Amino acid sequence: MASLKTVLYLGVCLSAWIIATADKNFVPKAEKVQWVSLDFKTILTWTTKASNYTYTVLYSGDDSDWKESPDCIRVSESECDLTNYLIPFDRTYTADIQTEAETMDYDLEEFPHTYSPHFNPYRESNISAVKFTVEAVDERRVIINITDPLTSIHRRGKQLSIRDVLKNDLKYKISYYKSGSTGKRDIISDSSMAEVSELDAGQSYCFMVAAFIPSRPKNTQQGAWSIQWCSNGHTLKELSLGAWVGVVFILLTVLIIIVTVTVLCCRCCRQRNKTLQTSQLSAPV
Ligand SMILES: *[C@@H]1O[C@H](CO)[C@@H](O)[C@H](O)[C@H]1NC(C)=O
Ligand SMILES: *[C@@H]1O[C@H](CO)[C@@H](O)[C@H](O)[C@H]1NC(C)=O
Repeated sequence: MASLKTVLYLGVCLSAWIIATADKNFVPKAEKVQWVSLDFKTILTWTTKASNYTYTVLYSGDDSDWKESPDCIRVSESECDLTNYLIPFDRTYTADIQTEAETMDYDLEEFPHTYSPHFNPYRESNISAVKFTVEAVDERRVIINITDPLTSIHRRGKQLSIRDVLKNDLKYKISYYKSGSTGKRDIISDSSMAEVSELDAGQSYCFMVAAFIPSRPKNTQQGAWSIQWCSNGHTLKELSLGAWVGVVFILLTVLIIIVTVTVLCCRCCRQRNKTLQTSQLSAPV
């Protein structure tokens, strides 16, 4: 009987130990660690299999010492915004994501952790689609005025644009074609304002713009394409002719209304005078 009890106890102890070790081995590492970066806003994301753990993110630029990211210490989310720490931009950064159990004994051993891929914001951050306006200079030339997308980085109270970050490395690719034709032409502009010349007078043209950074590796050189803008093919003269027709039409309408009202009024007045006279005549004295 006593020996059976001992065996039972032993069994219970053994299974408790197995569960404990299994639990310890099971502290989940961050998986599928990825950089997501648009206009220099850079977020590290990962996936996780269990929910009751927290994560601390460390980062290092060009193999320097590891620093803790102040915003991502023992966080329960599976992402970390590192935008304000990956500075200077033109460095190769690595992050290290450590998993911590809430009840873990910290002295015992190193945290399970996962390294991120390398990331250089200056060379790899995606650039969003730009906005631009097109203004006709004359029949054959237009000015394209491009608005540099803003980053989420502030310096001395000013929100930086991608031009503030990329400076002269930022060019724009302008792609345009004549409506109805398939031949596209590309030009590269160094500045955010570009002139497109040698257009055919009186033709409709369509324009698209994308940021272009030739100093980058091929696969990250080009930003997203803007939406397309098409001219209606009218020259300025034709438009003002149309405007004149409109003005004349409105003036004519107003004139006709005035004449009609005057004529009607006069007729009214005359009629009233007549009735007044007749009533006076027929009134008994
Ligand atoms: C940039 O955009 C491409 C295409 O959408 C995407 O596959 C890539 O992961 C993005 N890179 C970053 C760093 O966000
Ligand atoms: C270009 O566009 C920007 C912003 O839309 C505007 O402030 C600027 O005056 C424009 N420049 C010209 C020359 O039209």
